[in-house]
Amino acid sequence: MKVLIPGSFDPPTFGHLDIIRRCIEIFDEVMIGVVSNPDKQPMFASSIRVEMLKENILVENLTNVTVKEFDGLLVEFAKQEKIDFIVKGVRAMTDFDYEFQMAQVNKDLDTLETLFIPGKPEYGYISSSLVKELYRLGGDVSSFIPNTVLERLQNE
Ligand code: PNS
Repeated sequence: MKVLIPGSFDPPTFGHLDIIRRCIEIFDEVMIGVVSNPDKQPMFASSIRVEMLKENILVENLTNVTVKEFDGLLVEFAKQEKIDFIVKGVRAMTDFDYEFQMAQVNKDLDTLETLFIPGKPEYGYISSSLVKELYRLGGDVSSFIPNTVLERLQNE
């Protein structure tokens, strides 16, 4: 079974890495799809977001996982990559409205099903946007993101 975890990963957080790790335990093959041009202007170029994910996958010695950039419709990319299911991590009820809408659109567009994995409670309030805002305001983000990502933030 091959699954796709799509997202902006701007930047990747411990919450993202936890979902990736858990998917690797469940599925034969995991692909992380990094959207090239997310709706919001990203802080990091897509190539850097891909690199940050790869760095952390290597650091953790994870196998059966690949990282690819995509543009355009998710269902088209999934078809091209022979994906069986989309996987999304959900942190709290506040994520559900948006994720349900996306899951339904993707199902309507190409009968592509989405599976949801609940985020760990300790990562429940972490998001890439929160990390960026906290960092910008001088807050300590070291418990939310890996060191390699922190170094990238410091060099921005
Ligand atoms: O990490 P994010 O920002 O919540 O990820 C959102 C993402 C990339 C999964 C979503 O924006 C997406 O699927 N974009 C690709 C375009 C698409 O197919 N949109 C759905 C139909 S409008």
